[in-house]
Amino acid sequence: MSQSAHAQDLHRFPPPQSLVRSAHVSGRAAYDRLVAEAEADYEGYWARLAREFVQWKTPFTRILDSDDAPFYKWFEDGTLNVSFNCLDRHVAAGLGDKVAIIFEADDGTVTRTTYAQLLAQTCRMANVLKSLGVRKGDRVVIYMPMSVEGVVAMQACARIGAVHSVVFGGFSAHSLRDRIADTGAVVVVTADEQVRGGRSLPLKALVDEALALGGCGAVRNVIVYRRTGGTIAWQPRDLWMHEAAAAQPDICEPEWVGAEHPLFLLYTSGSTGKPKGVQHSSGGYLVQAAVTTKWTFDLHDGDVFWCTADIGWITGHTYITYGPLAIGATEVVFEGVPTYPDAGRFWQMIERHKVSVFYTAPTAIRSLIKAAEANAAVHPDRYDLTSLRLLGSVGEPINPAAWEWYHKHIGGGRCPIVDTWWQTETGGQMITPLPGATTLVPGSCTLPFPGIMAAIVDETGGDLPNGHSGILVIKRPWPGMIRTIWGDDARYRSSYYPADLRGCYLAGDGAARDADTGYFTIGGRIDDVLNVSGHRMGTMEIESALVSCTDLVAEAAVVGRPDDTTGEAICAFVVLKRARPTDDEAAQLAAELRSWVGKEIGPIAKPKDIRFADNLPKTRSGKIMRRLLRSVARGEAVTQDISTLENPAILQQLSQAH
Ligand code: WT7
Repeated sequence: MSQSAHAQDLHRFPPPQSLVRSAHVSGRAAYDRLVAEAEADYEGYWARLAREFVQWKTPFTRILDSDDAPFYKWFEDGTLNVSFNCLDRHVAAGLGDKVAIIFEADDGTVTRTTYAQLLAQTCRMANVLKSLGVRKGDRVVIYMPMSVEGVVAMQACARIGAVHSVVFGGFSAHSLRDRIADTGAVVVVTADEQVRGGRSLPLKALVDEALALGGCGAVRNVIVYRRTGGTIAWQPRDLWMHEAAAAQPDICEPEWVGAEHPLFLLYTSGSTGKPKGVQHSSGGYLVQAAVTTKWTFDLHDGDVFWCTADIGWITGHTYITYGPLAIGATEVVFEGVPTYPDAGRFWQMIERHKVSVFYTAPTAIRSLIKAAEANAAVHPDRYDLTSLRLLGSVGEPINPAAWEWYHKHIGGGRCPIVDTWWQTETGGQMITPLPGATTLVPGSCTLPFPGIMAAIVDETGGDLPNGHSGILVIKRPWPGMIRTIWGDDARYRSSYYPADLRGCYLAGDGAARDADTGYFTIGGRIDDVLNVSGHRMGTMEIESALVSCTDLVAEAAVVGRPDDTTGEAICAFVVLKRARPTDDEAAQLAAELRSWVGKEIGPIAKPKDIRFADNLPKTRSGKIMRRLLRSVARGEAVTQDISTLENPAILQQLSQAH
């Protein structure tokens, strides 16, 4: 064996034999058979899974309808109810007393909710919504902390065919208003406050502020979950969740909906200043949520699954609210943050709840590595993590060093890591190892989930051979895919199915496939979207927030630069309406602008660096040279051709600016 081949072997991790034997997809040959099945009969393959994983009220007779491509329809004439599939059928199967959710509050208080209890709570909440006149197809905005009540609110919408749109609790009143207005929501579900890291933060007050900003005229009621009992202002439209729910019966006949009925809208950032309301379906989405949860996490009876995402993001939708419940699993839901009361919290919780499958984001792993290195008391080696048998990663590329640490210190060297690539738009995992089938290579999300036709192409949609990097596309529609952008079919088409890609779905990521294995490695976004701590942010959104500070800002350009902990960091170049500030003023102004962005979008969008300049580097036709700004932000020597630069002297200033 050559030395390099040997070195490579050290970084290849075949599935452990014990796992191969028991896994749902057992061995590479089983994976290959599924891939072959999907290739031979694409629709038949997905129809088989749709029948296996979902209980239909009316079975579908049509599988995929491409007549109006790219507005694809899956299982269109089938009817179902998502909440029935997640709750009732397990209770009917005798699993009523099985724990669905182990909830751990910020302060460590633990509550267990069985499937029967979750069903009863969901029915009461569904009846509350109905009593307020919420009908099938109406939109409900959910602005909630991580809680059983948050999951219940989502399931209750699904039960009555209302379309939920969850807004992450870290978004500002402005962002919340924009989403309430765009969806035309009739009800908002919130909490008095949320508790994170020992601190109470307002939620209801932000809803009041959002509604006062205007444009939310369709909102009739605000339902408030009492989390802390803190003082809040009360309006005639408000009602307490516990009071309203107590007055309702705990049964509620599910609303049977067509497979294409929208289950939810979830806003995500794109290349323009306006976030996109990604619309998901009921049937196809549930099929993909259920099958990926079962196969990728290889969940069996007795497993305790923990996905650390927030229900405000797609990961929380698919791998907290829908996937695990659809397959009748037991899962942990955590209210707090990984660093409170100390950075051993995750490890302590894994020990306490005997978590067997743990799914988190690289940014959390990287920050916990730092914390463990700084303080031996919170090092994972101090905890009993032997309950773990499988680990997962999601949201951004996991660098090999973090992968190896995760594998060694959390997984004890025995647990495979599934590095799962997917997006808000894909609904569920798309490129991922299957733990009993795939040999792992750190830094690679390996191979497509069986039935997902991922490929790498050039700008004209032409296939690129393995070994080359290019544009990541999905060649055929899949059940969990985005159906449209709410209210903007044209933007859906142009964002995801641009004419030059010959009908392929454009993911927006660059990627490469290994010459030998065909394994995928994701290179990051090829559009103006940043990934900061696994949160997706549009550069244009942050720019519009900055320039909306009309007293101060004349112009702004935002770019990303690599960051050791957060993956990418936000770097803003700002031209003020007044003279360029002195050093002292600059620090003060940067702080002001940061909190401005925090108010406009939310704390996650605050730029890490703000640099002031007299103007921005532009071409003679007035286009900001972003690539050049990216080099400047990284502190790299500028290698781009600057002959078209209108104002070359500005480069010097930007490189030195604060
Ligand atoms: C973008 C999607 C998937 C749910 C959470 C994020 C990046 C996601 C990976 C991964 C490399 C990844 C991509 C993608 N991404 N997972 N395993 N390896 N990159 O969903 O907010 O819609 O962001 O996150 O750039 O396009 P999202």
